[in-house]
Amino acid sequence: MRKFERCEKYYSEYKTFFEENKMLGPNAMWLIEILCEKMDLKPGMRVLDMGCGMGLTSIFLAKEFGVTVFANDLWIDPTDNYKRFVQMGVEDKVFPIRAEAHALPYANDFFDAAISIDAYHYFGTDEIYLPIYYSKLVKQGGQFGIVSPGLSREFDNGLPEAMKSHWDPDMYCFHSAKWWHNLWQKTGIVDVTHANSIPDGKALWNLTADFDLHAADFENYLTLISMTAIKK
Ligand SMILES: C[S@@+](CC[C@H](N)C(=O)[O-])C[C@H]1O[C@@H](n2cnc3c(N)ncnc32)[C@H](O)[C@@H]1O
Repeated sequence: MRKFERCEKYYSEYKTFFEENKMLGPNAMWLIEILCEKMDLKPGMRVLDMGCGMGLTSIFLAKEFGVTVFANDLWIDPTDNYKRFVQMGVEDKVFPIRAEAHALPYANDFFDAAISIDAYHYFGTDEIYLPIYYSKLVKQGGQFGIVSPGLSREFDNGLPEAMKSHWDPDMYCFHSAKWWHNLWQKTGIVDVTHANSIPDGKALWNLTADFDLHAADFENYLTLISMTAIKK
């Protein structure tokens, strides 16, 4: 399995912080490192971290790339996120916001980039989400990047019998990289620059979450997918 050099350096530097603040699903720090290799983030850029959870990826983006981050989430209290941002000394670069994905309080064309780690699939599978909501927030030439739990291919014949007892209804938002590519590319609003299953995606996910589901995945459907795009 690949090494996460950027994360490892970062973990050892902020060991106590990561012991106190556990992640919500598949290792978000690994996923942000994978995604950032496909993006071009530069100091001073304004970045939306959509569905940031506890804001760990937002802190990473501010510290590693010098970008300003709007750490947007629904379930996690922004005051708790703010305390984490203060603790990590990034409170002047990372702004905690609570907003639902269909009621985001940002100006059109405000962001240089919008990223979403382990969150976009919760609200973004709707055909109209990118064209009507999300794409408007990013300026022309701006970047999009997501990493989400997904499928190596769409189910050939429905949900496999063995997976049924471990499957939550909200997992029907898992899709293949090809499915995601088509969802965004057909809008004509963005050019999809990359959409793939992450190499070792299944292993990376299985190391941290959803163990019973993975044990029942005899046909290797589960993986992590990543996608990047540029706004035309
Ligand atoms: C599995 S957590 C991942 C959090 C974080 N990105 C990470 O990887 O640790 C998914 C996040 O998506 C956010 N989310 C889900 N549905 C949302 C919605 N409709 N609008 C805004 N955020 C949403 C939740 O608040 C939650 O923190």
